[in-house]
Amino acid sequence: MDFENLTVDATGPIARVAVDRPKRLNALNHATIAELDDAFRALAGDPAVRVVVLRGAGDKAFVAGADITEIRDQSPVEARGFSRAGQALMSRIADFEKPVIAAVNGYALGGGLELALACHLRLASDTAQLGLPEIKLGIMPGFGGSQRLARLVGPARALELMLTGEPVDAATALSLGIVNHVVSADQLDDRVEELAGGLAQAAPEAVRGILQAVRQGLD
Ligand code: COA
Repeated sequence: MDFENLTVDATGPIARVAVDRPKRLNALNHATIAELDDAFRALAGDPAVRVVVLRGAGDKAFVAGADITEIRDQSPVEARGFSRAGQALMSRIADFEKPVIAAVNGYALGGGLELALACHLRLASDTAQLGLPEIKLGIMPGFGGSQRLARLVGPARALELMLTGEPVDAATALSLGIVNHVVSADQLDDRVEELAGGLAQAAPEAVRGILQAVRQGLD
């Protein structure tokens, strides 16, 4: 699979997807959202793939949000279309029938945290910063992250993060239940591979059933 804004390695049971726009801290523009959607659609249909790992290229950011240089010039109609595309991508990932692990290797802000929240499991490096700063730009999280965060940590804590727009560090994210584990930055890839390797060996029917059962419980 060839993409402009992603790297995808799907040569074995563990597919590795990286958002690859390091000069923009891997921010999500329209093209990147479309490419992620295409990549996940292809990985869903590939029976050899049993688990997906999603990370940001480089060591500074997972994804630093929607691409501000793009959204600041959007008309209301364009903004609506952008939100819809983001929501569709997040739903595709949340509904994915194979586990998707977010390796949160740095900033996960705005649409970047929404992307991590759509994944099934989240491992963070101890350098990660997570938050929904949209309010500081006069907008709200538009990709479904407000609901996903509230389900995960409860409405009061979710509201505090969204209404202040202040990010939290990885340790706080762990204590809130936003991430499953925090590890040192140099250990993150190994821990994610270890987890992914175990999941890749689990019975696919059982994995699919568990993902489905939990999803139905959230509906
Ligand atoms: N969209 C577009 N470009 C972004 C971006 C985003 N969400 N986040 C970072 N970038 C770009 C910066 O503009 C900068 O580009 P430049 O080198 O051409 O000036 C580059 O990425 C590096 O970011 P920089 O701000 O210099 O890094 P930093 O370490 O000083 O700060 C952040 C890192 C994440 C704190 C800061 O970039 C930031 O606050 N980004 C916006 C986060 C945000 O509001 N996200 C939600 C959007 S809805």
